[in-house]
Amino acid sequence: MAAGIDDIAIYIPRLYIDAEDFAKARGLDPVKLQKGLGVSQMALVDSNQDPAILAANACLKIMQKNKLSPEDIGRLYVSTESSFDESKAMNSYVIGMLEQVYGKGAFEHCGGIETKFACVSGSYALYDNTNWIRAGEAEGKYALVVVSDIAKYDKGSSGEMTQGAGSVVMLLNDQPRLLAFDPKVTATSIKDEYDFYRPFGKETPIVHGQYSNMLYMIQVRKALEAYKKKIISTGLVKLEQGETILDHMDYINMHLPYSNMGKKALAYLVRHEWRQLPRWKRVLTEIGMDEPVPKDPRGTIESVLGDEEFMTKDHEFTKLFTKTSEYQEVYESKLASSLIASTMIGNLYTASLYLGFRSSLEFEFQKGIELEGKRVGFGSYGSGSSAMVFSGVIQSGYKEIVRDMNLENELGDRRRLTLEEYEILHENKLTLEDPVLQPKREFVLTNVKTDEESRGERRYVFNE
Ligand code: CAA
Repeated sequence: MAAGIDDIAIYIPRLYIDAEDFAKARGLDPVKLQKGLGVSQMALVDSNQDPAILAANACLKIMQKNKLSPEDIGRLYVSTESSFDESKAMNSYVIGMLEQVYGKGAFEHCGGIETKFACVSGSYALYDNTNWIRAGEAEGKYALVVVSDIAKYDKGSSGEMTQGAGSVVMLLNDQPRLLAFDPKVTATSIKDEYDFYRPFGKETPIVHGQYSNMLYMIQVRKALEAYKKKIISTGLVKLEQGETILDHMDYINMHLPYSNMGKKALAYLVRHEWRQLPRWKRVLTEIGMDEPVPKDPRGTIESVLGDEEFMTKDHEFTKLFTKTSEYQEVYESKLASSLIASTMIGNLYTASLYLGFRSSLEFEFQKGIELEGKRVGFGSYGSGSSAMVFSGVIQSGYKEIVRDMNLENELGDRRRLTLEEYEILHENKLTLEDPVLQPKREFVLTNVKTDEESRGERRYVFNE
């Protein structure tokens, strides 16, 4: 049975900080953010918004757009790493908000959980719900998978320039208009690591930035190796002499903590794949230098990062590699369109990969490319750490969805914050009653109880 994404919607908060304003205030070169990281604007939540609100607003959007009633939905999963309760799942809050619109008890028949594994958990949720449909358990109902996060880092930390906030919701069914997932190819890797984590009670993560970058690439590469074996053994792809599995992906979407991480990760995967192929000789000639090798090729990530001579040479080699005509062709045709939304919105943790997928659909369609039948590969990564590689094929009904996509319109009337306003928000100095913006047909948080009996209970309203 086919199963996959029938429709996709986003909710991005309307506040943002511009990379230029941010860089100036922190004494950084704005070009480091804009060109070095690929960050132009970072979306931020208002004082009366939380990740459950971002998720509920996206769910309402997709249900209204598709004229769905709660009866049509069998499962609602929320994937996040911005949880505010250790026990009560975020989807219960989302259901509570949706029932303000659809009536109390309207979703009672529905099931679902909150999933957590840093930025990769949404991919696990998609996989589990796709299999729920494939197993014939859905009885004609849809699953909603919402990925929702607020990427907030400590003031003055290197992560602060890679913030963002928003959610993406995907509507899954057995006759998807947009994308059918390839069966029996999903591959994973997992390892106990401390590259990025957020201990109980801490609002912002503890991050080992360069370590996390490298671990991301290594873990995704491991998952890609497993994916390769699986897709070849299913017979969906046959590798001819001199080919790599990446040649069989028309589009490649990577997890995007900042948009240039997608570039970095793709270059890493392509380089490792091509190294075994006859084309590598041509590429090396164009680069004009030998590929550097670390002093201890079997060393740890720390030893490689600490090998300064290797890191400098490898940086130079990577820069030259990404300028080669062969790599540029891959980058432009398979990845570039997926990065556009990320530069305008920033990091969405769990939702970053799927914002990239949506971006790729909109901007490839605008080029006039026929997308039906194109295979899309996904490289998902979550710190801590696990990676997932899987793929799907764009379906014949895609135009119905993609022709109406307009990121600029969806972002709407955004409000550029001054650095002072940003810092006040970042330090949680604004109250729920005192948001920067007036809500427009969306859910807002009105109260978080503080008395002992009901501490932490949240109250939301839908603002007409
Ligand atoms: N002009 C142009 N480019 C410049 C520049 C300038 N003046 N200064 C620096 N750059 C370039 C650098 O060359 C570099 O480019 P390359 O990667 O191509 O070499 C880029 O800008 C970034 O510079 P640095 O590597 O020096 O930046 P940094 O070390 O200060 O911070 C970071 C980068 C480590 C990603 C940091 O922002 C961070 O810690 N972010 C949070 C962690 C993170 O996002 N990790 C990603 C993997 S883990 C994950 O994916 C989970 C998740 O969602 C968080």
